[in-house]
Amino acid sequence: MNILLLGSGGRENALAWKINQSTKVDNLYIAPGNAGTGLIGKNIDLSITDFPSIKQFVLENNIDMIVVGPEEPLVKGIYDYFANDTQTKNIPVVGPSQKGAELEGSKDFAKQFMVRHNIPTARYKSFSLDQLEDAYSFLEQLQAPYVLKADGLAAGKGVLIINDLDEAKSELKEMLSGMFGDASKTVVIEEFLSGIECSVFVMTDGDSYKILPVAKDYKRIGEGDTGLNTGGMGAVSPVSFADEIFMKKVEERIVIPTIEGLKKDNITYKGFIFVGLIEVKGEPMVIEYNVRMGDPETEAVMLRIKSDFVSLLEGVATKTLKEKTLEIDPRYVVTVMLVSGGYPGDYEKNKEMNGLDAISDSILFHAGTKLSDGKVLTNGGRVIAVSSYGETKKEALALSFQNAEKIKFDKKYYRKDIGFDLK
Ligand code: AMP
Ligand code: GLY
Repeated sequence: MNILLLGSGGRENALAWKINQSTKVDNLYIAPGNAGTGLIGKNIDLSITDFPSIKQFVLENNIDMIVVGPEEPLVKGIYDYFANDTQTKNIPVVGPSQKGAELEGSKDFAKQFMVRHNIPTARYKSFSLDQLEDAYSFLEQLQAPYVLKADGLAAGKGVLIINDLDEAKSELKEMLSGMFGDASKTVVIEEFLSGIECSVFVMTDGDSYKILPVAKDYKRIGEGDTGLNTGGMGAVSPVSFADEIFMKKVEERIVIPTIEGLKKDNITYKGFIFVGLIEVKGEPMVIEYNVRMGDPETEAVMLRIKSDFVSLLEGVATKTLKEKTLEIDPRYVVTVMLVSGGYPGDYEKNKEMNGLDAISDSILFHAGTKLSDGKVLTNGGRVIAVSSYGETKKEALALSFQNAEKIKFDKKYYRKDIGFDLK
């Protein structure tokens, strides 16, 4: 098979690594990819939202399957673009239809979906600018802290959590007046939930599903979960509190109703569902849906899948997922992300990286790197992920930290407390 994978981050490097292990793969192309994916397959200089150019590439290179890493092409309708074109309708895109991608593209849509299908989530209401007074009175009914969410995609920055009521009101007004452009023309206000979060990944062909290993990510830049939000500083899988009892609740109350809900609503969905969960007093509640794999969770989760991943992807694409097996590695995996000093604020790029060849017993996934004259240079805030196995979390952490030390570049930073809140 010839596979085209879209995206350029650590997630895509991990997906490429796993896809490439399959004996079914003849050629793997990654668009646009990064220095890490270039070591596995062939990087192609294509924009992930330029559907006509992607189509041309797919036809010219006999691509059999398109796997979409990030949400943007999905929310923009790449599934429908290929499904509705006579030349490409038989070339599957692994990902939801545009309607299905609304689960991530519109928080209001996702909340309505959850309420409609009885899926546990925080109480909420959505408002636009002409409903400002009603929005204020809804805020007054809630307890601090107040959770304000831009309805649309806002590059991970669209959620504000505010302690003071007056400040919440003024931020709400700013949001509705365009703080995040069109994305915040509608704002979801919801009840604050207190608990610990985890990420549950589901593969579905629209009928059956497989639950992939659960992971927890670490979003804040500082140790002890302090400071600004980032694209993710590390991940751990499995997650101690997501035990069998908890996961049974997740499956019965969330995963099955989600798949059934998509069917009832006539939404075509052949791809990944990422359920952002919070455990509130032992009970799982949905914080958000994403329609793709998580980053950096994928850099841990892929290591724990023993089965042929391409066979699973084929199951998704051809509605035969039920016939596939998913075998999971029981070991722990810990991923530590190395970032550029200053990130998520201003940081410098083009720092030469050394020590990549000295790594043993860890797997590297490039996030923001590039190749220049045979040298690997930093090319982003999040630079490279170091993932390791261990019989225990401690063992896996020790290997990732040991190898994180060996990689050298100017102003390297990483969190040394990944997994601190888990057993
Ligand atoms: P989201 O983009 O919906 O995932 O929100 C970003 C982050 O805000 C989540 O990962 C949570 O840490 C936090 N968050 C979102 N909604 C709530 C809520 N209702 N209660 C508490 N924290 C929340
Ligand atoms: N790790 C969270 C995300 O990918 O959105």
